[in-house]
Amino acid sequence: MRRARVGILISGRGSNMSALIAAAKASDYPAEIVCVIANRPDAAGVGIAAAEGISAQVIDHKAFGSKADFEAALAAALDAYGVEIIALAGFMRVLSADFIARYPGRILNIHPSLLPAFKGLDTHERALAAGVKEHGCSVHIVNAALDDGPVLMQACVPVLAADTPETLAARVLEAEHRIYPAALAEFAARLLAS
Ligand code: GAR
Repeated sequence: MRRARVGILISGRGSNMSALIAAAKASDYPAEIVCVIANRPDAAGVGIAAAEGISAQVIDHKAFGSKADFEAALAAALDAYGVEIIALAGFMRVLSADFIARYPGRILNIHPSLLPAFKGLDTHERALAAGVKEHGCSVHIVNAALDDGPVLMQACVPVLAADTPETLAARVLEAEHRIYPAALAEFAARLLAS
């Protein structure tokens, strides 16, 4: 069975990356993780991916004079691995329209809110401040507007009276780890069938 080639971009601890790597170990999973790239030298996920035997590297955005130069290096690395799908997993740089256009409809992201609610940062703090009773996470296709592309899958979690941003984030993160592998599997299977 051919499997779609996935590159994962991270900026930090990489728990969603780990969930994708774990899911892709199943022999019938329609995607394989061919590389992990972090934009920060201190991203813990790089070591975790390497320990899993996955090619992992840092491309530090601060080492480049411009965003275009950083993204050119990113694209060169992804293309060297023949990446067909890019999965953003806690990747905290906003990609330019030019970069996104290189991989049209092929970049996925996981966002910690029920989009279109709470785009951007500090989603759990903002959900608590707004008093919503349900919160959650979304996997969506990346387009040129921030946290805006078509939603592929969402999961809801309850907001409890005693929640802090941390307890709410932990509940949402468990849901992220469930839906990101499921959404990538559906997306990859569709791509392979097209
Ligand atoms: C996750 O909660 C993810 O949804 C969020 O960052 C966290 C990364 O955790 N992403 C964003 O906020 C994207 N704007 P992880 O590194 O353990 O996967």
